[in-house]
Amino acid sequence: MLLHPRKTFYCILLVLISLVLYQAYKAYRFTMSIDYKSIDEPTALGKGLQNAGVGKSDMKYILQWTSPNNVPLVYMGKGQQGFLERKCPYTNCFVTADRSLLGDTSKFDAIVFAGPEVVRIHTLPEKRSSHQKFVFATIESASNYPACSNRFDGYFNWTWTYNLDSEVQWGYFAIRDSEGVKVGPKKQMHWMKAEDMDPVSEEFRNGLKTKTKAAAWFVSNCYTLSHREDLVKKLKEEMKNYDMELDVYGKCGNRKCPTKEGEDCDKLLKDTYYYYLAFENSFSEDYVTEKLLHALENNVVPVVFGGANYSRFMPDGIYLNAKELDLKKLVSKMDEGIKDANKYAEYFRWKNHYSYHRQFESFETDPYCLFCTHLNNEEMVRKTTIYKDFRKWWDTPGRC
Ligand SMILES: *[C@@H]1O[C@H](CO)[C@@H](O)[C@H](O)[C@H]1NC(C)=O
Ligand SMILES: *[C@@H]1O[C@H](CO)[C@@H](O)[C@H](O)[C@H]1NC(C)=O
Repeated sequence: MLLHPRKTFYCILLVLISLVLYQAYKAYRFTMSIDYKSIDEPTALGKGLQNAGVGKSDMKYILQWTSPNNVPLVYMGKGQQGFLERKCPYTNCFVTADRSLLGDTSKFDAIVFAGPEVVRIHTLPEKRSSHQKFVFATIESASNYPACSNRFDGYFNWTWTYNLDSEVQWGYFAIRDSEGVKVGPKKQMHWMKAEDMDPVSEEFRNGLKTKTKAAAWFVSNCYTLSHREDLVKKLKEEMKNYDMELDVYGKCGNRKCPTKEGEDCDKLLKDTYYYYLAFENSFSEDYVTEKLLHALENNVVPVVFGGANYSRFMPDGIYLNAKELDLKKLVSKMDEGIKDANKYAEYFRWKNHYSYHRQFESFETDPYCLFCTHLNNEEMVRKTTIYKDFRKWWDTPGRC
């Protein structure tokens, strides 16, 4: 039996309509199930948050406005975790990236903006309340991430940077006196005079005798704003006149540490080299990174190159400054130290009076702990603080 063509057509149409209706029904069921879940979720979430401490009146709420991919945000942890794990004196700080956690972003105690991201993004919180602290946070140099837009003037209340007048110090290191009291780095340092420092011991001097080579540079970023790579080329040339060698370790050179462990690298540095190049990748005020510690911890004299006033970081006479000395003078000083063991030993007198420490070694200098401590400091929190000329404060001239 042959079906009438029109009947066939209606048959197919009917099947198609049923299919469409069935799919629509499935989609509807699916949405309903989502709806059902999302009604339930806040309660479960709410319970979780209560357990985690949300809702307690003495909790300080910190909102990460930008993605937590940049340091320092990336190591803040979620909730109280970061402060608990660090065993901070105050652990009642709660970190989240969830803008709706408290219903309204103006309810957070602090909102943190990662520098490299906030100088580029366009969305900032719409509302703010006067009790909140908006915090500019970065460990990167101002040269690499300038803030060029005028909307940042008068915008931030606190900063969390390596700059020595930031409320939260990202100190790449801390300096202690012989009693263990933290004395720096800071803007106005009062160092002991080099001539008042005690000479190094005989034992220490003997320890310096293993050194055989002039200078080392450990580096992974080969092309930089400071053009340190160009200076190194010239330095190398000038050093040849004195038969001095400059060994470059890492990505930009041809040498590698014996193993990947930092300790072997450190030992090599300590046993073999007289000088270490602590050259920064860019020039910004107070931008002195942990590179310096490689030298100071391993009894190697640092040769520095950066935008900082190094007197805020080290006593005079314990380092050479490649930005201030001309190249010939610098190299001849390096040569003097190598040839004269007494002179070279003088560089280390400071060791009898000061010591350098990594910031995470103590609560007092751990920036994460410090941040939570500050949020608990009523006086600091209540005080109105505004970076009125933020760009002037932050930016390195000529970078916008
Ligand atoms: C550099 O730092 C030292 C030590 O704090 C300070 O005495 C000196 O005034 C500073 N120099 C400049 C030009 O800021
Ligand atoms: C934070 O900065 C804003 C904008 O300048 C200001 O209105 C507010 O009073 C400041 N708040 C605190 C607590 O410093």
